Amino acid sequence: MFLILLVSAFAANAQNHTFSIQVNKPGVSISPNMYGLFFEDINLGADGGIYAELIKNRSFEFFKPLMGWQVTQKPFREGSVVVLNRGSQFKTNPRFLRLSLNNINQETMSLTNEGFRGMGIKKGLRYDLSFLYKTNEAGIKIRASLLNSNNKEIGSAIITPVPNEGWETYSISFNATDTALKGAFKLSFEGNGIIDLDMISLFPADTWKGRPGGLRADMIQMLADMKPGFVRFPGGCVVEGFDIAQRYQWKNTIGPIESRPTLINRWNFEFAHRPAPDYFQSFGLGFFEYFQICEDIGAAPLPILNCGMACQFNSAELVPLSELQPYVQDALDLVEFANGNVHSKWGKIRSDMGHPQPFNLKMMGIGNENWGPQYIERFKIFQKALKEKYPEIKLIGSSGTDPNGDRFDFLNNNLRFIKVDFIDEHFYRTPQFFYSNANRYDSYPRKESKVFAGEYASHASGVPNGVTKNNWLSALSEAAMMTGFERNADVVHMASYAPLFAHVDGWQWTPDLIWIDNLNIYGTPNYYVQKLYSLNKGSRVIPIQLDGKPIIGQDSLFASASSNEKSKELIIKIVNANNMAQTISLNFAGMRLLNTSAKLIELQNDDLTSCNSIQFPTNISPVESEIKVKGKRPVITVKKYSFSIIKVKYT
Ligand code: AHR
Repeated sequence: MFLILLVSAFAANAQNHTFSIQVNKPGVSISPNMYGLFFEDINLGADGGIYAELIKNRSFEFFKPLMGWQVTQKPFREGSVVVLNRGSQFKTNPRFLRLSLNNINQETMSLTNEGFRGMGIKKGLRYDLSFLYKTNEAGIKIRASLLNSNNKEIGSAIITPVPNEGWETYSISFNATDTALKGAFKLSFEGNGIIDLDMISLFPADTWKGRPGGLRADMIQMLADMKPGFVRFPGGCVVEGFDIAQRYQWKNTIGPIESRPTLINRWNFEFAHRPAPDYFQSFGLGFFEYFQICEDIGAAPLPILNCGMACQFNSAELVPLSELQPYVQDALDLVEFANGNVHSKWGKIRSDMGHPQPFNLKMMGIGNENWGPQYIERFKIFQKALKEKYPEIKLIGSSGTDPNGDRFDFLNNNLRFIKVDFIDEHFYRTPQFFYSNANRYDSYPRKESKVFAGEYASHASGVPNGVTKNNWLSALSEAAMMTGFERNADVVHMASYAPLFAHVDGWQWTPDLIWIDNLNIYGTPNYYVQKLYSLNKGSRVIPIQLDGKPIIGQDSLFASASSNEKSKELIIKIVNANNMAQTISLNFAGMRLLNTSAKLIELQNDDLTSCNSIQFPTNISPVESEIKVKGKRPVITVKKYSFSIIKVKYT
């Protein structure tokens, strides 16, 4: 192991400070759920992202039924491909395609799907194709082809559907012979007669845990690696919807995939400068799958439900109080879906979906970034009903869009007055805000409602493009403010960065924690900050001070400390936002070091505008080494623009 002796002389121009670490005065405990994740279907986070389906608009339910599909026919014959609507028989998935074929020997027609900004195809991997079909003709032959970006076939299968009476599923698997970042998928038809098609679906075999119709394993792995305490889902503004009709309704997202109604994604049209007309929600990632992700990665589920208000930046529609009951019932039923026994109505649905064991739901958010007295009135109605039936479920109320100002004060005061369990604060602010708010929670009330920093991200300005908003300055300033979360762990019980995922070719909002393309993934510097906090949180706060005061920016230093009482480790986090290295003497009070070695984890870059990227995914990533902590007051050097974690074993 590479051993660095950090008891050396001060680096040129470095400052010297003594941090007193009062191990003999342990503070409050740190919530085991402290650092979690916020997942919203934004930036192609779900469809086109974590949901591994490769076909866009598989059930022809987008506004434009053939969006994403290209139909070709030789010779051209009007009316050979038509969209039919069987609304009366299948309300949630009314449309299907009817193809009339008229040449027994040649390829007469083809349907090509472009995928979500192309399709990621991997050489040698198995692809599972399925579709619903109906035909009364024998002899129809279909060739299924994977195509690369030059339209060259890189994998195929021949399908010969057998005539049938009603809708049936056809499934076939085949391997890709090459890799493509922006591939496509084609069905070519030969023969005579009519064939009806719906739910044309193509999945790679390498999904998370190999689940058919599942999720992108590389994306879930990045989350699992963080060991998050919770996952907040499914939004965000998608919970609210542009209007009430477009709100997120969890009951529409469970059960058989083909019965889950497609819904426009509100990020489809939210930003005129980033239009995404093909952005819809198939709900292949629905509430069952969200709960399952949480279970898989050991995170507590934290669903957010619509409170009877549509997004106030959009239509701002309100559900009259007299008509709020179905919304409240959705919340009550969700507890039963997650926790109810298999004989209960909703517990049975969960069980029929393959999960008889409960999902152990313990908390729920009502509303996202809603505001005004209308929000408080509605929240109270939910609170009364939920607390009466499920007093053990903790409820989360939102303090709106901003971390300060009249709107925030009104909501914060009112939510505290009604003793809400958690208040969900959101702050999308400048790096300066993050630095200067490292002491934000030092003066918060210690009792009553706890804080859930549910969405936050430092927004650096003057960057060349959206992707580069996740620069080192933004991440370092977040790390600085998070020392304040940790020091105030009796106030801040949960925290999550936002948003989680973005596709390099399909984003609407930046910065974001993790970026993907159709084949690759990388964590931003902000990801590594979050991960380091989560993996090194400790179980109890240990006071750490400079000249008797919390370290909240003196000489651009920020610090927090904690102990892990199980592993008997002291964990010191130091952010040096200064443009030069600084040396720090560590004065431990009341601790006997087990040995003179400590672990140093450093996240650092000399250039605050540096980023990670698909090409350089770990440009800024943690580097671990061993250091010596010798003598009474060992001295360490924290590099310029660095986030350092020192872990020392004690007896
Ligand atoms: O994270 C993106 C959006 O930011 C969320 O949908 C919303 O809650 C916030 O305004």
